[in-house]
Order: sequence, then C-alpha cells, then structure tokens
Amino acid sequence: MSLPVSVMVRISDDALALACGADAVAAAFVAAGATVERVSSWGMHWLEPLAEIDGKGFGPLEPEDVAAVLAGTSDKAIGPVADHPFLARQQRLIFARAGKTRPLNLDDYAAHGGWAGLDAAHAMAPEDVVAQVIGSGLRGRGGAGFPAGIKWRTVAETTGDTKYIVCNADEGDSGTFADRMVMEGDPFLLVEGMAIAGHAVGAAKGFVYIRSEYPHAIAKMQAAIALAKRHIAPFAIEVRVGAGAYVCGEETSLLNSLEGKRGEVRAKPPLPAIAGLFGRPTVINNVLTLASVPWIMAHGAEGYAAIGFGRSRGTMPIQIAGNVRHGGLFEAGFGITLGELVNDVGGGTASGRPVKAVQVGGPLGAYHPPSDFGLPFDYEAFGEADGLIGHAGLTVFDDSADMGAQARFAFAFCAAESCGKCTPCRIGAVRGVELVDAIRERAGRKADAVEVLPQMHNAAKAKRTVAEQVTLLEDLCETMKFGSLCALGGFTPYPVLSALRNWPEDFGAR
Ligand SMILES: Cc1cc2nc3c(=O)[nH]c(=O)nc-3n(C[C@H](O)[C@H](O)[C@H](O)COP(=O)(O)O)c2cc1C
Ligand code: SF4
Repeated sequence: MSLPVSVMVRISDDALALACGADAVAAAFVAAGATVERVSSWGMHWLEPLAEIDGKGFGPLEPEDVAAVLAGTSDKAIGPVADHPFLARQQRLIFARAGKTRPLNLDDYAAHGGWAGLDAAHAMAPEDVVAQVIGSGLRGRGGAGFPAGIKWRTVAETTGDTKYIVCNADEGDSGTFADRMVMEGDPFLLVEGMAIAGHAVGAAKGFVYIRSEYPHAIAKMQAAIALAKRHIAPFAIEVRVGAGAYVCGEETSLLNSLEGKRGEVRAKPPLPAIAGLFGRPTVINNVLTLASVPWIMAHGAEGYAAIGFGRSRGTMPIQIAGNVRHGGLFEAGFGITLGELVNDVGGGTASGRPVKAVQVGGPLGAYHPPSDFGLPFDYEAFGEADGLIGHAGLTVFDDSADMGAQARFAFAFCAAESCGKCTPCRIGAVRGVELVDAIRERAGRKADAVEVLPQMHNAAKAKRTVAEQVTLLEDLCETMKFGSLCALGGFTPYPVLSALRNWPEDFGAR
C-alpha cells in the first residue's frame, strides 16, 4: 500500500488504551508508513484503542484494522471525535486538554492554556488566592467533599515555617480512574495545581502519593515534575509510591505511610492542617481537587461557582464503569441525574440485560436501584438517599447480580483492608461476613466460595431465625457506622444496608 507520508495518527498512551492494545495498533500504523503521535485519552473507553486522523476517529481498533483505516474503507469510523455525542454533552474544565495534547509536551500544555492559573496566582497575594478558592465553592473530590478553600485557609493561618502540600493519588475506589487519567494524560495540570496551593498556604514542598498499581502515572508524574521544575520554582514536588492498601487513601493513614510508618489511621484532632506530615501543617487534597484550581485561578471563582447544583459547585469528572455499554470519563456540572448517567450517557448495560443496581462512590458506596435514577449528582442529594458520591465512580450491575453476595463482599473487603485500629471495623467486618453467610445459608442459599477465617462460623452455628440474624446485621451496621474511627468501617454499612433494603430476596430474607 502506498501512503502519503504526511498521514499523522494520534493514539493515546493512557494505561487503559495500552491495556486494550494501543501499542500494537500504533506499531501497525508505523509499519504501514504513518507517523504516530501519542496523546492523552479522550476517556471514551469502549472505543479504545482509538486512532484519530485529521480529527476523525476510528475505534476500537485492532492491528488488522489499520489497512482499512488508511485506505478509507474502515467500518470502525466514528466521525469527528470532538463532536461525538459522549463528549458533546460534557463540560470539561479539568479534562479540557484530554485527547488533544501530548502528556509530557510543555509546548502543548502552554498552547492549551497551561500555566495561566499559576501565573494568575503568582500575581496575587497568597490570601487572595485562598479567597478565590473559597469563593469558587470547590469541595474536596476525594470523597468527603470538605471545602478546599477552608482547609487551605487553616494551613495558611498556621505560623509554622515548614508546611507541606500532599496530593492524595491513592485512588483506591473500585471503578474510578479520573486521578490516573489526569496524571497520565495531563500531569502538568496537577503540578500546576500543587504549585498554586504551595503559594497560597506558604508551603515550599509537595508530595504526590501514588499507588504502586499505577506505574504509568508514576512515570508520567516523575517526568512532568522534572520538566516543570523551572515553572514551579521555588516550589518542589516529589513522588512517593504507596504499597497498595485501600486504607492508605485515608488521609492520616497516608501521612503515616509517607513518613515510612505502618498505614494506620491517626485519631483526629489534630487535623492534618494543623499537624500533618512530620507534624507540620499540611494541605492534603485529592488529585481532582488540586487539578480544579488552575481553571479557577485562570477564569475566576465566580465562573466556577456559577456551575453546579446546590452546594456542589463546579464540575465533577464522573467515572462510568462496570457492566455498561459506554464506560468512560464524563465531566459535567453537578446536578445531572443518575438515570441520565447510566442510561443516556452510559447506554445501559453492556450485557443488554436490565440494570439492577448501580454502586456509586466506590466500595463504601450504596447500591442504588433504578428507582433512585432521579437523584441529581450532588453530595447532599446522595447523602439524603443514604448514599454518597465519594470520588464519583459508578459501577453498573445487570439483573444477574446477586446483591447478597455483594453485601458479603463489602464486609469481606472491609475485613481485608481494615487497618485494625478500632474494634467496630476490625471485628465487626469479620462478624458481618459470618452474619451474611448465616442468613443466606439458613435461607437455603449456598455461602459464597470465598475463603473465610475459622472464627467466621460462629454466626452460622447460632440458633437464630433469619429475621433475628437480619436484626443482628442491622445492629452491627449501626455499631460500625457510629463507632468506627474512619470511614472504612463507618461507611461499609452503606453497601450492606442498601443491598438488604432493596433486594431482600437476594439474602433469602423476605
Ligand atoms: C478508607 C478511605 C480511603 C480513602 N481513599 C482515598 C483515595 O484513594 N483518594 C482520596 O483522594 N481520598 C481518599 N479518602 C479521603 C481522604 O481521607 C481525604 O478526605 C482526602 O484525601 C482529602 O482530600 P480532598 O479534600 O481533596 O477530597 C479515603 C478515605 C477513607 C476513609
Ligand atoms: S474504621 Fe477500620 S480502617 Fe478506620 S481506623 Fe478503624 S480499624 Fe482502621
């Protein structure tokens, strides 16, 4: 095949694209005489590996599809990528550069608005930067939704001469990947956000704590920090790699891990803002929180605050995953309903079967039935519905899912990941597995084949009716919810009780 040498193909080097075979597709294009540029991902995961030529997309590709793409006969053409319906209804502030720039190219970054936020911040007094962040209404995107500007103000007002910015890039929630996509696709954005935070609170040093399961993000962040050194000086950033414990995403546990200690949760007070890393005042924020700040500084707090719903201001990069047709990254202002996200954006289940449940907010989030689909995506609305939005991960399940097994999994996950510091979580999670097994066994359902510890069989031996076991389960959940030191034990009741409330038949507990 003879090709015009000028054919330029853009293919993502994001970890998801790589896992889907992007390197092999890129190699096939090169072998066919095309030039390949590796860019960030648009976040349309079901189309990866996605190739873009003169703005037109083709995907999902395999190496053998390349000839037809270049010959103009491919049946995998999706038309102009930027006009794709999945993107058309988004409002991308954090992901404004997604799909458009080479992740480690400083010229691309600057040409697409990079550093404008840091320049604006440097032109302001630190307290004015803090005031902008407060005025924007930005809330922490790691899960708790605490106002970012208030946290920054607390650190700014401390008198210590050494303060730190810590970026929480542990991203342990199932079905979430937005932090990873920022770090792999637009790492300078996070560097810029951290540098703004440093200027605002008077910190000269920052750490990015990334889970070891994110090798591509680690490499990109290390490279980006080295390349951006001049832009952010005198602020400096280092990457630290976590060994991969879910609880190390909890901020105080993360700080212990950063200090080289066991990842055990610290009692509060003191807040990390007062005595955090190495006992110093510390801003600890999620990747998406820090990545929201450059836009706020460049465009003004008012513009940001004008987007959103209720007390949830700005945009949220929602991550749609699980059994869903169109999984990917959907950034929009708060307020879009759960039903719109699952059915209209996500296209329903990948299996084609009816949706049974959507877990929102990772492994500690509630399971929502379709009757909750009118819920607007908003911290308060989900809280009132006995749920949470957490880090905005959606995991979709079809009607073949066994919600009793999912409830058991929630307890088993908590038992495996518990740091062990407090009794309701350390012991309660184990008792929870026993109870779910006992309820299901008594109701004639086989206990799951997952290995249980020898001490887990007490509940099964007890002579209780199903109704008595269910009451005990609810009581246990209340103890964990109100008695746990952190949200790992405290929120495990959300998936358990939502499963029990909405699908009692899956426990045999009707
Ligand atoms: C068990 C547990 C795991 C958590 N994992 C994460 C995580 O992976 N990433 C994150 O940003 N926050 C996580 N958090 C929330 C953090 O404790 C903390 O609220 C957050 O880093 C603060 O940043 P933000 O205000 O920007 O959200 C977790 C909390 C708990 C209790
Ligand atoms: S709730 Fe669990 S993870 Fe959190 S402090 Fe207690 S034992 Fe540790």
